[in-house]
Amino acid sequence: MNPFYITTPIYYVNDKPHIGHAYTTIACDIISRFNKLLNNDVYFLSGTDEHGQKVEKAAIEKNYSSQDFVDLMSENFRKIVPYLNCEINDFIRTTESRHKKASQALWMKLNDNNQIYLSNYEGWYSVRDEAFYSENELIKKEDDKFVAPSGASVEWVKEESYFFKLSEWENKLLDYYQSYPDSIKPKSRYNEVISFIKSGLKDLSISRTTFKWGVQVPNNEKHVMYVWIDALCNYLTSIGYPNEKKPEFIRYWPGIHFVGKDILRFHAVYWPAFLMAANLDPPKTIFAHGWWTNEGQKISKSIGNVIDPYDIIERYGLDQIRFFLFREVPFGNDGDFSKEAIIRRINSDLSNNLGNLIQRVCSFIKKNNNSQVENSFNFLEADKILLNLSLKKFENYKSYMKNYEIDKAIKEIFELLSLANIYVDNQEPWKLKKTDTQRMNVVLSVCVEIIRRSTIMLYPIIPNSSKKIFSILNLNIKDINFDNYDKFTKNKISIKDPFPIFPRIEIND
Ligand code: MSP
Repeated sequence: MNPFYITTPIYYVNDKPHIGHAYTTIACDIISRFNKLLNNDVYFLSGTDEHGQKVEKAAIEKNYSSQDFVDLMSENFRKIVPYLNCEINDFIRTTESRHKKASQALWMKLNDNNQIYLSNYEGWYSVRDEAFYSENELIKKEDDKFVAPSGASVEWVKEESYFFKLSEWENKLLDYYQSYPDSIKPKSRYNEVISFIKSGLKDLSISRTTFKWGVQVPNNEKHVMYVWIDALCNYLTSIGYPNEKKPEFIRYWPGIHFVGKDILRFHAVYWPAFLMAANLDPPKTIFAHGWWTNEGQKISKSIGNVIDPYDIIERYGLDQIRFFLFREVPFGNDGDFSKEAIIRRINSDLSNNLGNLIQRVCSFIKKNNNSQVENSFNFLEADKILLNLSLKKFENYKSYMKNYEIDKAIKEIFELLSLANIYVDNQEPWKLKKTDTQRMNVVLSVCVEIIRRSTIMLYPIIPNSSKKIFSILNLNIKDINFDNYDKFTKNKISIKDPFPIFPRIEIND
């Protein structure tokens, strides 16, 4: 079994989880379930980023001690993972002692390798972004005040600070990315990172002295680590760092990081430089996804349009939302979360296409064939075309999924389902019932087979519904695997009473 290590960003605990957080976690879950079906040995990590000024400020505003606050808030992120039906292997918190130990060890390694020096930082800092900015990156507002490119406010900081010799890594990073052009996806993000590196890298401030809520810098009590060096290290902590000999570490590192486009620079520039400077391999792949807006507007607390994953899932259903998020928008692009788009998507694909095929085929078998269908292999041309197409679609689906093009992979499945619906229309089993029951049986068995194959492909995206479909077909859930894809798993299938899996949603529901 090949190892496959995938991570979500660790989420800041200054607020509750919202749809943006759910999006990355579900993306990783889809890819990790897909890899399990490929028989890969998957390790899927998520967790919370609990240090830094932003979190400290939020705790003060809520009148909590920092520790009590992060204990309380991180639970919200832990609890939402199973609610989203995401199967993680570890949930890491940066306030855990294993993580403090790992990040201090990473620091010491950088120090031993002569990558760190003490000096003074003077410049702009954004607490909301937890990022340092040079003046030419900032935007000047009408009132002559500067803001970060993200729109976050910035403050002038002047303090003693340790620096990481990032400038030494400019050429090494460029060489690395030239040799591994697929390590940043999509391509447009790769180009963005390359031009950022080419514009010149300055040494990076990696410690702070004006607050205390962080991992202490080894051998200097005055300093806590810059939150990003501590945060990025989580990907190593979970698999056993600093014990580089630990079997999990040897097996899983380097991993694959899924991140939002806003935190690409941290992952694709700073992180590989830290790693190489600590004699470790850079990440295998960094995939940067886009951002969701709500009915065309940026999602923000001040606008008051934050989408609560619990509300939206309660309203439309979990698999419906998992499906919408990854079918509607090419993974990597920005997307708009609109009520109308969700309803359109659920109705047109899940209800009218997939749901309709299951309902019409299974109800027909129930009413007209004593709930049973026998596999028979007397195929006519039309049957062979559809079955062969399902093989082709499977190959396309796999290659898209391997490239994280989830929307394209889903499209392949739904093209197959549309053609299966047309096949039913053309074959008219209701007429065959009167004229040729043997042929009717072949047609029905082909339909059941296409439903079964489509369900296997859909499983990573809509796992609960896939299990329901398998239960209607009276098939073993364990048979949802790729090895079975082209095999008719049973000679005789007894259909259970079908029930609507994806009820249509009316626009004013
Ligand atoms: N703590 C850092 C990550 C450290 S990883 C070593 C962080 N946390 S965050 O909670 O602010 O954001 C986590 C993720 O949520 C980011 O990948 C970000 O892109 C994503 N999203 C936040 N809002 C989003 C949308 N509106 N849409 C899509 N994703 C969004 O950054």
